[in-house]
Amino acid sequence: MSIENCKIIDLPKIQDPRGNLTFIEGGEHIPFNIQRVYYLYDVPGGAERGGHAHKGLHQLIVAMSGSFDVLLDDGKEKRTFHLNRSYNGLYVCPMIWREISNFSSGSVCMVLASNLYDENDYYRDYNQFLFNLN
Ligand code: TYD
Repeated sequence: MSIENCKIIDLPKIQDPRGNLTFIEGGEHIPFNIQRVYYLYDVPGGAERGGHAHKGLHQLIVAMSGSFDVLLDDGKEKRTFHLNRSYNGLYVCPMIWREISNFSSGSVCMVLASNLYDENDYYRDYNQFLFNLN
């Protein structure tokens, strides 16, 4: 899996003077079905999250509030995405190392995932991740 597969997805946005609405349907707006949702919040200034890759998990990362940077690395190329819109999501395919940093104060990072939590799906060691690339 290459970093070329990872991209910002423009999610549907229903504009309304009463407040905007965005929705995400698994398999429709994102290329996987959603089995799990988790979110990072109350992140202290200067903290970094991530620092791992997934063997088979597909994810969509959304800045529900505030902003942060997501560094993606497929072992050959690195790209950084700045997320700051709740109607944009970053699709991350399997076998991509990611690091999330520069959280703004009060930011919320929501992640939609294609599978339930499974520690065996993680590479938490960068060299082990590189070793297992094709
Ligand atoms: P981790 O995935 O390492 O967090 P991040 O990549 O956002 O920095 O998870 C941190 C801890 O939370 C780890 O002990 C596993 C646990 N966890 C769950 O129990 N369920 C989950 O769905 C997730 C994402 C993490």
